Amino acid sequence: MRTQVGIIGAGPAGLLLSRLLALQGIDSVVLENRSRAYVEARIRAGILEQHTVDTLTEAGVGDRLRREGLEHHGIYLQYPGTRHKLDFPALCGRTVWVYGQTEVTKDLITTQLAGGPPLLFEVSDVIPEDVDTDSPRIRFTDADGNAQVLECDAIAGTDGFHGVSRPVVQQAGGRVWERTYPYAWLGILADVAPSTDELIYAWHPDGFALHSMRSPSVSRLYLQVSPGEQIEDWSDDRIWDNLATRFALDGWELCTGTVTDKSVLPMRSFVSAPMRRGRLFLAGDAAHIVPPTGAKGLNLAVADVTLLAAALVRLLREQRSDLVDSYSDRALARVWRCTHFSWFMTSMLHTSGDAFDAELQLSQLRRVCSSEAAARELAENYTGLPLDV
Ligand code: APR
Ligand code: PHB
Repeated sequence: MRTQVGIIGAGPAGLLLSRLLALQGIDSVVLENRSRAYVEARIRAGILEQHTVDTLTEAGVGDRLRREGLEHHGIYLQYPGTRHKLDFPALCGRTVWVYGQTEVTKDLITTQLAGGPPLLFEVSDVIPEDVDTDSPRIRFTDADGNAQVLECDAIAGTDGFHGVSRPVVQQAGGRVWERTYPYAWLGILADVAPSTDELIYAWHPDGFALHSMRSPSVSRLYLQVSPGEQIEDWSDDRIWDNLATRFALDGWELCTGTVTDKSVLPMRSFVSAPMRRGRLFLAGDAAHIVPPTGAKGLNLAVADVTLLAAALVRLLREQRSDLVDSYSDRALARVWRCTHFSWFMTSMLHTSGDAFDAELQLSQLRRVCSSEAAARELAENYTGLPLDV
């Protein structure tokens, strides 16, 4: 088999890259080691920045998002006795959208399978080879068990945190930075209308809580818990009781409903540099992870592949390497901005048990809720800084 760009991984990064390249007349093949059903069932975060919505719309995969997604004009920041709304359009002229990443993935898969570039599920033994040459290849075993070779001009490693691409880049030298936060999130999906119009990020002495949503009838809620927490120890009643305590506010009530999914998520930051070795380019979770507090994971993946698509088009259509040469540095600048913002939100909102830290957090929350300059800084980062392609 031969293609221009071999793409490893059919998460949002790989699928959107394939779509953006196809729109510019560049061929690709996407290789995914899981089944379509598995990929479409994975529950992930759900906030899209303005530029993510614009990119998906321009790529022709934004119709259902525009129909079913919920445009949000702000968030609430809460600490005991106070729930304050940050009004994003007033602060920075932008909005965000609530639309599950799972739905973004489904839309991209549907479009791809309806006449788009090949997308092969359930492949195994994927190995990128000869990435230091201009004709790299990917070896893999297809779903029927046949050994295959995909000859390419370039390879995109969009295979997530546990993929095979990042180790190949790091073998040639590189660096990683990591921060493991001393807490985790317990997330639930529940069949109940959201009890709030905007997301609530709540600081509480017992720990952080987040009220998010997926639709007018489905809520997504999170509780800060300790990293070693066993999900079996959290009955639905215990979860709802803790949520009610942490979101408590006079005159407001949390509606409860049937819990349809629950899991414990680790909180960590990870950055791997460079995001390129020769003709192998990393994008999305393959190169970086952010804690979910800033809602940046998917948005960063979209920003990466927007830069990468433009760079690959320039390389493969015009034989000019300027954009691929600067790709890693330009992508990493945004990665570190989002890593900082995610760290800022995480550190401001999660309790550590230390009384001094708690006073600093409350002081920062009061500052963001009373100073327009401090609120604007948060709003600009949350809604997404402009992407300089
Ligand atoms: N071969 C082929 N595919 C692989 C391999 C492999 N060796 N290893 C992993 N994959 C696939 C995974 O099964 C997954 O479908 O690569 C895909 C990577 O997708 P994601 O993990 O979703 O990563 P990405 O596309 O970068 O999405 C960005 O945003 O909200 C965040 O963490 C969240 O995953 C999300 C990310
Ligand atoms: C979600 O809806 O899953 C979600 C929303 C906002 C976040 C993190 C997760 O900051």
